[in-house]
Amino acid sequence: MDLKARVRVLHERLHQYNYEYHVLDNPSVPDSEYDKLLHELIEIESQHPELKAADSPTVRVGGEAQSTFEKVRHDTPMLSLSNAFNETDLRRFDQRVRDAVGEVEYMCELKIDGLAVSLKYVDGRFVQGLTRGDGTTGEDITENLKTIHAIPLTLKEPISFEVRGEAYMPRQSFLRLNDEKEKKGEQPFANPRNAAAGSLRQLDSKLAAARKLDIFLYSINDFTELDATSQSEALAELDQLGFKTNPERMNVKTIDDVLAYIDKWTSERDTLSYDIDGIVIKVNAIEHQEEMGFTQKSPRWAIAYKFPAEEVVTTLEDIELSIGRTGVVTPTAILTPVHVAGTTVSRASLHNEDLIHERDIRIGDHVVVKKAGDIIPEVVKVILDRRSDDAQPYRMPTHCPSCGHELVRIEGEVALRCINPKCQAQLIEGLKHFVSRQAMNIDGLGTKIIEQLYHHHLIKDVADIFYLEKNDLLPLERMGEKKADNLIKAIEKSKSQSLEHLLFGLGIRHLGVKASQVLAEKYDTMERLMQVTEAELVEIYDVGEKLAQSFVTYMSNEDIQKLIQKMSQHHVNMTYTGQKSSQIDGHPDFKNKTVVLTGKLEQMTRTEASQWLKNHGAKVTSSVTKSTDLVIAGKDAGSKLTKAETLGTPIWNEQDFIDKQNEIN
Ligand code: IVH
Repeated sequence: MDLKARVRVLHERLHQYNYEYHVLDNPSVPDSEYDKLLHELIEIESQHPELKAADSPTVRVGGEAQSTFEKVRHDTPMLSLSNAFNETDLRRFDQRVRDAVGEVEYMCELKIDGLAVSLKYVDGRFVQGLTRGDGTTGEDITENLKTIHAIPLTLKEPISFEVRGEAYMPRQSFLRLNDEKEKKGEQPFANPRNAAAGSLRQLDSKLAAARKLDIFLYSINDFTELDATSQSEALAELDQLGFKTNPERMNVKTIDDVLAYIDKWTSERDTLSYDIDGIVIKVNAIEHQEEMGFTQKSPRWAIAYKFPAEEVVTTLEDIELSIGRTGVVTPTAILTPVHVAGTTVSRASLHNEDLIHERDIRIGDHVVVKKAGDIIPEVVKVILDRRSDDAQPYRMPTHCPSCGHELVRIEGEVALRCINPKCQAQLIEGLKHFVSRQAMNIDGLGTKIIEQLYHHHLIKDVADIFYLEKNDLLPLERMGEKKADNLIKAIEKSKSQSLEHLLFGLGIRHLGVKASQVLAEKYDTMERLMQVTEAELVEIYDVGEKLAQSFVTYMSNEDIQKLIQKMSQHHVNMTYTGQKSSQIDGHPDFKNKTVVLTGKLEQMTRTEASQWLKNHGAKVTSSVTKSTDLVIAGKDAGSKLTKAETLGTPIWNEQDFIDKQNEIN
């Protein structure tokens, strides 16, 4: 037999055995048979590298190490879910659903505690896998994902689409990994989720391969590719295509059934071989999902019930005060270190004076601590029975612990504030904010360096950062030639950031990331922003009165004008260089139109068609309803076309669509 044909046979068999073992959990051959064939293939590929395909089963063992992960924009954003913490939240969700679309069926799924990933398939081949990142842009971790055996490299059908799911580390792999780490004297991972995250961020995919990760797929981002009309059908189709989905899912009719499902898994979660942190409830019918739509952050048709957080008892040793960028004084509880939900906790924010008094928190108390949303430590309550007789109620200081200026409580605010504009703690916090990721994003300029630069009188305000030279940096602690070079480079690079970053970095009260973007885009230059009036600003949808006022006050301050000028002299970019929404907003013919693609397209793929439509502002949905504005019907279109005809929805054939594209492009 010629070698090519042998390679094909090996591919087929290995893919099949891999699928039986890792997806179906039902191997038909002993492991030794798999290993034998795999080694044969590795041998052939090493002698004849030209025969090694991108989806060869040998890629599972990992390949060349990479130097970085490329950042890639998601075709459609990876959203998150809104949370429910109790029965009331769930009943409210159910009410909202029924108010919107009437009686529905729900799909209950386990909420896998891992990392969301998005897998892209083109013509049935796995081509790219991304992390969620910030939801808009993720990192390309394709090579690491290929080492997860449950991810099919080729599908049983040549379709092109994106499928999303949760990569996770099974408990057994986690225990073994930590065992090995401890034997080597390394720090063990806090929990399987962190271990999974760490593994997927290995630049060397051989290391990722050794970590034994697994995956459950739970959604597709474009229903036009499949025939499914519901979440349950979509999952069944994913099964058919060779993916691994979670078998514990269940369709139910009422919210009481949902509660029963939650009860069951609350008591049985420990019997699973992987961690879950809650239950996800989804409206089953795609038609209903589309009717309900999305908020900015999450679908309205789904909710995540989170299991109650673990609570532990520890002592509160002290209350530390810190001054924020705007002068707000925040008290922090210093705790005797205690293990909770996978990590050691030794500090917890107490937020403000009112909270300390409401919960009557005193130094020396035994307190109950949990992690809110399983991330942020919180002091839940004091155990009064264990309080010592001499514990005194806590009193906030009257003067700023940093500059000694008197603290004030502004009417209507719970916060205590230092209003000294020259307060050192505030200035340092302002500098940290200026260089932070969403602001000027100056890599390497961390807290320690900023504090040193400030104390060495090298920077007093944000503009001074741009005057720094390598020789200023070298005398700092733990600063070498290379680090100094990199820092200067990062500062230089930040000068060309688009205007919204600078605007956000200035730390203007009430001005967040979103409004910075809106203002920079609308006014284009700092010069125009410095002349804008309050009346003009409040007209803008995303700008409220408070922001309008604080913005104009800020810009009319002479010191600020000098500061901006100082930056401008150092060639800090003062213009908007990002994309204009008018460019992304779409074409008037498609903007906000709901379009359904059906039937077989011959001159483009469905994904291309749907991407083009989305780029031009349309919403592409899968079922024809009264709110559908246009149906594009390819060859052999079926029931969707008939439905459009009965509803009188405008219908185009592929050529009509191509003509329109040509007209616009
Ligand atoms: S559906 C629009 N289903 O939970 C988001 N998510 O808080 C659709 N997760 O980012 C997500 N198990 O990482 C969905 N069965 C499941 C899930 C699940 C775990 C994670 C996922 C998501 C987060 C939402």
